[in-house]
Amino acid sequence: MASSIFFLLFTVFQLLSSTIVTAEHPPFHRTIPPASLGLHREKLTQLHFYFHDIVSGPRPTAVRVAQAPMTDKSPTLFGGVMMADDPLTIGPESESKLIGKAQGIYASASQNDLGLMMVMNFEFLEGKYNGSTISLLGRNAAFSAVREMPIVGGSGLFRFARGYALAKTYSFNATTLDAVVEYNVYVFHYSSMK
Ligand SMILES: *[C@@H]1O[C@H](CO)[C@@H](O)[C@H](O)[C@H]1NC(C)=O
Ligand SMILES: *[C@@H]1O[C@H](CO)[C@@H](O)[C@H](O)[C@H]1NC(C)=O
Repeated sequence: MASSIFFLLFTVFQLLSSTIVTAEHPPFHRTIPPASLGLHREKLTQLHFYFHDIVSGPRPTAVRVAQAPMTDKSPTLFGGVMMADDPLTIGPESESKLIGKAQGIYASASQNDLGLMMVMNFEFLEGKYNGSTISLLGRNAAFSAVREMPIVGGSGLFRFARGYALAKTYSFNATTLDAVVEYNVYVFHYSSMK
């Protein structure tokens, strides 16, 4: 009796497992031609704009969201984490035409000099790149004359983007700590036919 129940269970188990094993699924990977995604020719694009980091006043564009107990005693504000939604404009003036936003985090990651870790998405809002983004991830020694940071990816017309950004402080107000930074960005991405 016990053995026939066992046999029944065993048969049911075998039926179930053979169903699982023989079910047809497409393979999880395959090689496809780049043209099938509209990726035809790689091209290099230069982007030039000004980044406005406003930390003072009634309408800051960057706010501190976290810190360590020792952050304010550190000469480099080590451990301070800022969240930014900074305007990107064509010219350096605050009323210059808006072409995008720099949204993300910059945090003080160095105890000996000012070395910010930048994790930012640049969202473009104008012209053919409206709605496309590039992602920057790098070290920003903000008091150096020119800082180079990698562009590690993108979306929309910037899919598969890779490149670098050169950031140069245009103006810095030591009282308010507001800064305007000139960005030159060089990215390889694709001419899309779609
Ligand atoms: C950018 O795209 C958004 C969403 O499609 C649209 O509402 C907006 O008008 C566009 N801006 C420009 C300047 O074309
Ligand atoms: C810095 O900002 C303060 C307060 O807005 C202003 O009074 C001062 O003129 C600014 N300094 C420079 C060099 O722009």
